[in-house]
Amino acid sequence: MWVPNLPITLISAVAASAGAACIFKDFHGGPPYERDVRAEGKTVVVTGANAGIGKEAALEFATRGAKVFMACRDMEKCEEVRREIVMETKNKYVYCRPCDLANTTSIREFVERFKSEEPHLHVLVNNAGVMEPPTRITRDGFETQLGVNHMGHFLLTNLLLDTLKDSAPSRVVVVSCSAHRKGQIHKEDLNLTAKYDGRAAYAQSKLANVLFARELAKRTLDSGISVIAVDPGHTDTDLTRHLPMSKSFTRFFVYPLFWPVMKTPKIGAQVIIHAALDPKLKKCAGDYYVDMKLAEPSKEAQDFELSLWLWKVSERWTKLDQAAQQVRAA
Ligand SMILES: *[C@@H]1O[C@H](CO)[C@@H](O)[C@H](O)[C@H]1NC(C)=O
Ligand SMILES: *[C@@H]1O[C@H](CO)[C@@H](O)[C@H](O)[C@H]1NC(C)=O
Repeated sequence: MWVPNLPITLISAVAASAGAACIFKDFHGGPPYERDVRAEGKTVVVTGANAGIGKEAALEFATRGAKVFMACRDMEKCEEVRREIVMETKNKYVYCRPCDLANTTSIREFVERFKSEEPHLHVLVNNAGVMEPPTRITRDGFETQLGVNHMGHFLLTNLLLDTLKDSAPSRVVVVSCSAHRKGQIHKEDLNLTAKYDGRAAYAQSKLANVLFARELAKRTLDSGISVIAVDPGHTDTDLTRHLPMSKSFTRFFVYPLFWPVMKTPKIGAQVIIHAALDPKLKKCAGDYYVDMKLAEPSKEAQDFELSLWLWKVSERWTKLDQAAQQVRAA
């Protein structure tokens, strides 16, 4: 009796479908954002700019002529990517600056240095994100996903708000994703210490992103700052590096099944570029964009009482008032 050699059969099946998958992937990813929208004279900050869609976004901004500040935790990686970007784009106005979003002291230092170097900020891209990380608690004691994805960016944006206002028309692009729809704000236990669930914490942090964008827009109405929340789709980046994906079984057998429906980081970054530069999005007030199209976020995300509540709590956690006083005293 002939017994099929399972591994080989599997491998050839995967290989055979790879060609078809590539074609499908190209179409699924959607078209890139228009080439002719330039960014000369604009100063841009991108958090988490050394990998994934943050890196591709930084590259795109540099290609279009912007001055780009890469706010990253790992300076070695950042410098490597910065050199790559400068070589490829011939734009030398690309800089690495240390900013660890899991550390409020580091965020304050980043802002201080940025303001001492730059009078303007036209585009802030809150991109850095972690998903189910190995360490649950940031340096400040926040649950890591809420801490990095939301609290860190909350503080960063607020500390840069005066510069953004002075540079108007300016924009804040908040990278969320469809996981926000499964999210809930756990008012009684934002750190989820009682019963930790990494996935719920991730979804909560992504919902917090949309709530933050909407509340920020409300507070900066008529200031010339446009606020846009974006969903870059299921992008194939190392955001998923902490998932079982990195184990070899998942990597070789499960991952290929999902690969065709994931966008490349390059395509994922297009939604950021569109939100940051498209002339039609000059007056967004916390609108939510999926694939460069206006979309409705979840019902929770549209709850203004909730967004106000989260804002107040975030102010307290990040000690924003104290930070503001320090800035004024300096
Ligand atoms: C937090 O950032 C500050 C300022 O950069 C740094 O001195 C400190 O070591 C950082 N803490 C941790 C735990 O990384
Ligand atoms: C949870 O949140 C509070 C903020 O009120 C923080 O101070 C605390 O250290 C956090 N962490 C844990 C593990 O409870």
